Amino acid sequence: TGRYSLVVVSNRLPVDFEVGPDGAESWTTSPGGLVTALEPLMRASDGAWVGWPGVADRSFEPFENDGISIVPVRLSKQDIERYYEGFSNDTLWPLYHDVISPPSYHREWWDSYVAVNRRFAQAAADVAATGATVWVQDYQLQLVPRMLREARPDLVIGFFNHIPFPPYGIYSQLPWRKQIIDGLLGADLIGFQRSADASNFSSAVRRLFGFTTRGMAIDVPDGDLGRTRRVIAKPFPISIDAASFEELARRPEIQARAKQIREDLGNPKKIMLGVDRLDYTKGIGHRIKAYGELLRDGRLAVDDVVLVQVASPSRERVGAYMALRDEIELMVGRLNGDYSTISHAAISYHHHGYPREEMVALYLASDIMLVTALRDGMNLVAKEYVAVRFDNDGVLVLSEFAGAADELRKAVRINPHDIDGVKDAIIDAVEMPPRERSKRMRALRRKVFDNDVAAWSASFLETLTGGAAVQPGVP
Ligand code: G6P
Repeated sequence: TGRYSLVVVSNRLPVDFEVGPDGAESWTTSPGGLVTALEPLMRASDGAWVGWPGVADRSFEPFENDGISIVPVRLSKQDIERYYEGFSNDTLWPLYHDVISPPSYHREWWDSYVAVNRRFAQAAADVAATGATVWVQDYQLQLVPRMLREARPDLVIGFFNHIPFPPYGIYSQLPWRKQIIDGLLGADLIGFQRSADASNFSSAVRRLFGFTTRGMAIDVPDGDLGRTRRVIAKPFPISIDAASFEELARRPEIQARAKQIREDLGNPKKIMLGVDRLDYTKGIGHRIKAYGELLRDGRLAVDDVVLVQVASPSRERVGAYMALRDEIELMVGRLNGDYSTISHAAISYHHHGYPREEMVALYLASDIMLVTALRDGMNLVAKEYVAVRFDNDGVLVLSEFAGAADELRKAVRINPHDIDGVKDAIIDAVEMPPRERSKRMRALRRKVFDNDVAAWSASFLETLTGGAAVQPGVP
């Protein structure tokens, strides 16, 4: 056993190891919401974070970063191909997102997933103190809870699934459907984004194992004396550090930047914005199609509007992502070719990420935020847009298929498959009077600020530890 009383396990560490073009090596911090929320807790309670540093074939000793102990797990090139790009992102990802893209099932990928999950579980078991709380994150590590419980029955184990959990009719395709559920049931508490995800999971447990489930409780047989262990499967919708987004938005230099962006875009009447990882779940093509038809039909004029699309590169070695990039860039090229003028581009397309400050300025500069996901666990971009709009202006157009739609009921809701519906929603957003915009934005902001990421992690950890604070480790 180790010395840490709170251990977080996720595929990616909150720090990335990078080798520059000149060969210079460095660690960069990715300021994700999860780290922000957990940092204070981890500092207070001797916390460690177990994960992959983002490069192949490199071993690192544990080290301290901003008061958190970082425990890197080594992945070989083959692990990355089979466990990460393969099973995680070409089997589980499409399967869990309603098979928008067909999942591939390969036995070597599964074997690698098992082996890598075992390595993460072992690393966590090595550093966790007696009776420690271990919180495992996301679909890449679904076998870790069971493996950990077997190695360390003293631990309190939580799991949170950041992506959807599919209906049984889809989930049952998976050749290893029983092993995955059994892996998850090693946890004491399994968190999901939406109540629909939690009930899809419970239903898969009943169908595959016949265990009794009552509400959110699942009674899992434990040992051979007919005893059971209670596992809770419950929704905990994740959020963002809303206050820090608003704080950035209130800075004069960021407001000046937002104004500059509007000017640089030619001061159009309406700026529309899309911000996504370049992923086939995000419905970027549906959005562009609807926008193109509005220009074609003359319901929007290129002199009055622009669509800014930030599509940050993601999982670029996976085939479906390469194909998607070609498809989207063909659409963007065609649309600009058909409708742009010398002074106005119809779409301003960006295939790279931007620093948080620039994103906040973009949110502030945009009249309409388009979130058209075909399926999305939560969609934090929707919440970021709302958190930034302290001016109570701006319109959020939000897909019903994003987890965020459960909470953000005052958004303009769309079914992204219904292109005519998306077109009408865009026109509604363009024409919405200021009073209506402000009424809706106020309601949305209350939702986002009431459940920020600190409230999310506190409520998960309280449920997991039965209200007791995370205990300092026994030396
Ligand atoms: C989603 C997943 C995360 C993942 C992120 C970025 O949000 O839920 O687990 O880290 O996408 O994807 P990547 O494959 O680059 O880690």
